[in-house]
Amino acid sequence: MAIFLDTSKIKEVEKYHKMGIIRGVTTNPTIMLKDGVSGGMAGIKQCSIEIAKMISPYPLSVEVTNNDPKGMLDQARELAQWADNINVKITIHGPNGELDNLAVIHDLETKHNVRVNVTAMMSAQQCLLAAMAGASYVSIFCGRVNNMGYNACEELAKLRQLLDQFSLPAQIIAASTREVLNVVEWLNAGAHIVTVLPSFLEGMLVHPYSKETVKMFLDDAVKL
Ligand code: G3P
Repeated sequence: MAIFLDTSKIKEVEKYHKMGIIRGVTTNPTIMLKDGVSGGMAGIKQCSIEIAKMISPYPLSVEVTNNDPKGMLDQARELAQWADNINVKITIHGPNGELDNLAVIHDLETKHNVRVNVTAMMSAQQCLLAAMAGASYVSIFCGRVNNMGYNACEELAKLRQLLDQFSLPAQIIAASTREVLNVVEWLNAGAHIVTVLPSFLEGMLVHPYSKETVKMFLDDAVKL
């Protein structure tokens, strides 16, 4: 699946989806707030359904907004009802290290037919446990890993080797992009998917020497 878009901006999703170069979209409450989504759950629902419809059957990740075990389970089941291609983001643990989340993730995937994207992870070992709990996607914040002085590519390579070794079906999403280079380097390191900021997709696409070459072609075409 290679590339997802990390945004809740409808116009950005439309622009790159039309090009046929994205295979999904990821959001979270911070992205939605930054992108101007408002109106509480009603606003999240409206934005999510519009994106889900636009990119269907490609997956859209929408994150739960609480960390209470029952609250997460109920909300996750509701979010999943909004569209067939919505998977639900749940963090690996709570804000103080609460360990309830994996059991909720396991129940959603095994008892409630809800696809879960486990998020806010920083290490191969966290992702391995999430995959063993049955997660469909495991999101490792590679940009934050590098920011802390660890090597995201090493974590990705270790994780991919483990998932393949134990035939765990979870898809690795490398998130938290910081530069255009991240996309190819994290895919090469073993990520199944990189979720990228829209601006970095343009950075992948446009090359100054390509611009110069196209200009040369067009100038010479006129002279023909
Ligand atoms: O998908 C997760 C991503 O949005 C987090 O990115 O830049 O806040 O580390 P960042």
